[in-house]
Amino acid sequence: MLKGKTIIVGVSSSIAIFKACELVSQLRQKGANVYVLMTPNATKLIAPLTFQALSGNSVVFDLFEPKEEAIQHVGLADRANVMVIAPATANIIAKLANGIADDALSTTALACRAPLIISPAMETKMWEHPATQKNIQILRERGTIIVEPEEGWLASGKSGKGRMASIDKIIAEIERALTLGQDLLEWKVLVTAGATREPIDAVRFISNPSSGKMGVVIAQVAKERGANVILVAGHMEVNPPEEIKVEKVKTAEEMLKVVLKYVDWFDVLVSAAAIADFKPKKVSEGKIRRSETKNLVLELEPTPDLLATVRQYRPDAFLVGFAAELGEPIKGAQEKLKRKGLNLIVANDVTQPNSGFGVDTNRCVFISDKGLCEALPLLTKREVAERMWDKIKELRNKF
Ligand SMILES: Cc1cc2nc3c(=O)[nH]c(=O)nc-3n(C[C@H](O)[C@H](O)[C@H](O)COP(=O)(O)O)c2cc1C
Repeated sequence: MLKGKTIIVGVSSSIAIFKACELVSQLRQKGANVYVLMTPNATKLIAPLTFQALSGNSVVFDLFEPKEEAIQHVGLADRANVMVIAPATANIIAKLANGIADDALSTTALACRAPLIISPAMETKMWEHPATQKNIQILRERGTIIVEPEEGWLASGKSGKGRMASIDKIIAEIERALTLGQDLLEWKVLVTAGATREPIDAVRFISNPSSGKMGVVIAQVAKERGANVILVAGHMEVNPPEEIKVEKVKTAEEMLKVVLKYVDWFDVLVSAAAIADFKPKKVSEGKIRRSETKNLVLELEPTPDLLATVRQYRPDAFLVGFAAELGEPIKGAQEKLKRKGLNLIVANDVTQPNSGFGVDTNRCVFISDKGLCEALPLLTKREVAERMWDKIKELRNKF
């Protein structure tokens, strides 16, 4: 659950700061990428070097010095999967509630849109003060997750409410927060992407301009929404995200072979790859020489139909195809949907500007086996992927 996740741990100057060392260490041991931000006051209680050693990353506590790291850490706000402030002093809680950004931690918190968890730690009177309680209420209403402090021994020697919650509780909240928005949790998804290459001889092949962008973003969005994803990739101009398992293939036949290896595994197959329909009947050994051939005639034969073959093995799976059409796409796509036994087809007219191969945007139509026909406006490929997964979820629920 925590493996590969980017977690910002904000540390403020409570006496409970020593527990943050254990938190950082455990998160790292569980495979998270942990970045610690400290308030300047916190550095008077524990040296940043301790957190640097425990997290394996440099620690930022001054936005203005050293500049490069500070700037990189502010960029972290965008990459973080979750931000947790533990311990959270009455002071940082007040700043968060009021949008004050006067140090690296409070500035990053304001810039971060990932779920925010705070674990308050303070003397009972500070915790119970109406100002603190009002600030907590403001944060709660805004969606901040508060890990309630516990009753018990306090640094003042007294006993009461205000002890920072246990590390186990904080980690449980982090794990819960990571599942927010994970509406495809437990889904098993296979995505094909990129272009296949059908060899003519040892150095030449037949292919197409597919960049793999659409398929990669489909796999990425599914992964972000909690699905288990395998990407079967032909030739691509983009790198797939590291956290996704990738099977690399060259030809249409290899792509089918790998997809069939997983045929009993997936619930949903999205075939966004541009798979060759034809391949040279005979692949010449070595290199065909210009001097040896005057009129070279290539005899082509059909490649296996990936989606139609998968349908034979898996009548129950949800199959999604793509149809790149020249001109009005609906008729051709409807015919393809029927012929291959698909549940949904995403059709587009590749002659339209900013649509189809290589570009970052697409203008698509969703057509389902239940008669749905929905035209989308020009969207980024990421937005198309988000809408497509929403649609698949809706259609699968109706099954
Ligand atoms: C040794 C020590 C322990 C402290 N413990 C706490 C604490 O547990 N909770 C709290 O809210 N403030 C505590 N304070 C007070 C805060 O450090 C003080 O309010 C500070 O201004 C908070 O700054 P920061 O939120 O930027 O870290 C402590 C101060 C000292 C010197």
